[in-house]
Amino acid sequence: MSNILVLFDSSTGHTEKMATLVAEGAASVSKTEVRMRHIQEALPQDVIWADGIALGTPTQLGCMSSGMKAWWDEHSRELWSRIDGKIGTAFTSAGSWGGGGELALMNCVSMMMNFGFLVFGTTDYSGPKTSYHYGAVSAGAPQEDAVRDACLQLGQRLSSWVAVYKDGREELHPHHLDRAKRFPHLGTNP
Ligand SMILES: Cc1cc2nc3c(=O)[nH]c(=O)nc-3n(C[C@H](O)[C@H](O)[C@H](O)COP(=O)(O)O)c2cc1C
Repeated sequence: MSNILVLFDSSTGHTEKMATLVAEGAASVSKTEVRMRHIQEALPQDVIWADGIALGTPTQLGCMSSGMKAWWDEHSRELWSRIDGKIGTAFTSAGSWGGGGELALMNCVSMMMNFGFLVFGTTDYSGPKTSYHYGAVSAGAPQEDAVRDACLQLGQRLSSWVAVYKDGREELHPHHLDRAKRFPHLGTNP
């Protein structure tokens, strides 16, 4: 059994909508329990409970939100050195494409690395000209199919990696996934 925490900040609901999709994707892998927590209600125990964590934040000035940073600052004394080896990924809602969404993702990823997390990238595409190599990005709320699929797939990949790494479920390794489904835009001769 694997535990996944979707920990997010959101002021106007855009990142929260992404979080719901990431959680849905995570729950699509069997033997996975998912908790979704806004930082206003999340406890350090939620992070300790989790095997995999998806951090969702609004992009603020090209970084994670001040609320998300403050949450980790406040709890770092309790958590740091006790949560090594968890698997992490990130998603963000920015106000615009090019507004620093991927910088905010890297901000989240580097913080998770500081705590000793294993973070991962993806090669997958979720639609034509839409990938989520560093995590999922949405401009505003996730409305486009490709953005919504990126959130779903990111959650699914997180649960899959936890299942492979923690429970030895090798069949969920990306190498065993259908390449044509993952990269439909590449056709038969990539
Ligand atoms: C203080 C602040 C800073 C922001 N900085 C950025 C930014 O650097 N780039 C950007 O694209 N959007 C920026 N935004 C817009 C938010 O990222 C955007 O509205 C987002 O969709 C909000 O997500 P939420 O509804 O989950 O709170 C900023 C918003 C605030 C309040």
